[in-house]
Amino acid sequence: MTERIREGDLILLLSGDGNTYLLRVEDRPFHTHRDYVKLADLVGQPYGTRLTGVHGTPFYALRPVIHDYLMKLKRATQIIYPKEIGIILLKLDVGPGKTIVECGTGSGALTMALARAVGPEGRVITYEKEDRFRQLARENLKRVGLEGRVVFKGSAEPGFEEEEEADAVFLDVREPWDLLDTAWRALKGGAPFGALVPTTNQVSRLLQALGELPFVALEVQEVLQRFYKLNPERLRPEDRMVAHTGYLIFARKVWER
Ligand SMILES: C[S@@+](CC[C@H](N)C(=O)[O-])C[C@H]1O[C@@H](n2cnc3c(N)ncnc32)[C@H](O)[C@@H]1O
Repeated sequence: MTERIREGDLILLLSGDGNTYLLRVEDRPFHTHRDYVKLADLVGQPYGTRLTGVHGTPFYALRPVIHDYLMKLKRATQIIYPKEIGIILLKLDVGPGKTIVECGTGSGALTMALARAVGPEGRVITYEKEDRFRQLARENLKRVGLEGRVVFKGSAEPGFEEEEEADAVFLDVREPWDLLDTAWRALKGGAPFGALVPTTNQVSRLLQALGELPFVALEVQEVLQRFYKLNPERLRPEDRMVAHTGYLIFARKVWER
């Protein structure tokens, strides 16, 4: 059955010029630089409803998807982008009921995707050494109703508190090799490990460190994503693309090499 918009819902408002806005439905007007609409008019309407601004601009009220949440979260750090998050979720086998350990939280982009994937029975244990980033990530998670699935912890330098508890561990820190011992201890036997680093010299260093511990099935990969111009008669890629974000490293824990 088509779901109806309620007061207080978080919606994605798409305007005729292609801009999108993540907004809570409240009794207030919403202004863009060209037009405005009354959000309260959406209450009781089905998702997908079109509103017309007072100056004639069409607006569409959409139910936000997790990709929208990720692209709209407040950022204070570099974040992991959806193109990498997709493969991370699959390689780490993140699903309902799983326990995932992550470091660092940063702005909480990956945390949000993990929290969504583990479902209400699962949990994400995320380590972040900076109070201000932990606070920001908590707010980002709270806004989309996923805060309850996440356990926020401080620096991982003393080591992760989890011992053979994690179904997967992911590291997004500058020096992941320093946390490899504790990551290995936190993982269940056979469980997947992943990391993201932005430079090739970090990849080399991490590979060497992984080679010194009981990790197998090592893999390094990079995800490239190209968008297309939307002209069906002259279909071709956009002129620009994000050429580089980071390298992904994956491995599996074993008891001995
Ligand atoms: C690039 S950001 C992580 C971004 C995050 N994955 C996201 O998608 O939003 C790296 C974070 O790791 C944190 N960090 C680095 N070393 C850490 C450690 N030993 N313990 C906890 N956090 C750490 C930094 O403070 C920083 O916020």
